[in-house]
Amino acid sequence: PDRIISGIQPTGILHIGNYYGAVKNWINLQNSNEIICSIVDFHSITLSYASKLLDHKKLPENILLMTACLLGCGLNSEKSILFLQSEVPQHTQLCWVLSCLTTVPRLARQPQYREKSENIKDIPSGLFFYPVLQAADILIYKATKVPVGKDQLQHLQLASHLARKFNALYGETFPIPELIFSGNIASKIKNLRNPHKKMSKSYPDKLSRIEITDSPDDITEKIKKAVTDCTSQVTYEPDIRPGVSNLVGIHSVITGRSPAALCDEVKHLNTGQYKLLVAEILIETLKPIQKEINQLLNDKSFLISVLKNGAIKASKITSDTWTVVRKKIGCHYFL
Ligand code: TYM
Repeated sequence: PDRIISGIQPTGILHIGNYYGAVKNWINLQNSNEIICSIVDFHSITLSYASKLLDHKKLPENILLMTACLLGCGLNSEKSILFLQSEVPQHTQLCWVLSCLTTVPRLARQPQYREKSENIKDIPSGLFFYPVLQAADILIYKATKVPVGKDQLQHLQLASHLARKFNALYGETFPIPELIFSGNIASKIKNLRNPHKKMSKSYPDKLSRIEITDSPDDITEKIKKAVTDCTSQVTYEPDIRPGVSNLVGIHSVITGRSPAALCDEVKHLNTGQYKLLVAEILIETLKPIQKEINQLLNDKSFLISVLKNGAIKASKITSDTWTVVRKKIGCHYFL
């Protein structure tokens, strides 16, 4: 059977890009597979030293909020393993071993590193090692499948490279993890303020994303203010009309209908009217999830117990892999 693992940073509130690009896929997969889902708090501190955007005092609260959001979206803590990365030390231990198997130039070429370090004067080395820790998150479970959005492609390629490298040097140990995407549109939901970029938790302008907990008024305002162009017709042409196409894309991902069918159906509407329709659909879709999240947030001790049990289940797997790794690399006198 497949071993499926994924992760999410608790840097902000879950948005519809995360939901349709990744989380919804985890929930579909959990019916027939065990899903291991890590709230990657160690990843989320990589930029806190360099940017004022992240506040470490808010991290514990964000972690519980992310836990409630994931459960509220339908992740089942009985069937799946939901846990906090920092509670399972073998992730960072394997990260060290893997970091010894790659090179400084290779990590420096990672597109996300280049992009994120571009405007920082004192680049934290944690940002540089970010994808190695992500590879460790995956390989420590000997994962075979990793459901993520398109933005994670290069990180996954590095994880596969490191698995091959380890296997070649120390003998067959890790399966080569395979990526799974939710679908062409769902895997890359765009930023509402700048449709050339992806929707992201950390983008400074909150109007750029629909957060899963947004009120109906917030949703309407954000969709109304979504950047489109001066053509009033609704069409799906991502290359030349990325703004309106992103709205059609979101509409298509929610309803499961093709962009062409949707454009045909709304040909009597201009983009302004169409925005109100998309907002309405989003509001209705998120309503039941929000109800669940609000209920979960009333019971913080339950959320903590989910993470605690998850860490216990996760540790059973990681300590086995870690013992094998230590033996293979020769660091094992006391085992
Ligand atoms: P993160 O926290 O940025 O995002 C969580 C998941 O949501 C997907 N995603 C999107 N999908 C579609 N459209 C978007 N606009 C969009 N934005 C985000 C991401 O692809 C991801 O699947 N580095 C990872 C976290 C991580 C991880 C791992 C993932 C750490 N270790 C191990 C998988 C396996 C990240 O920052 O995700």
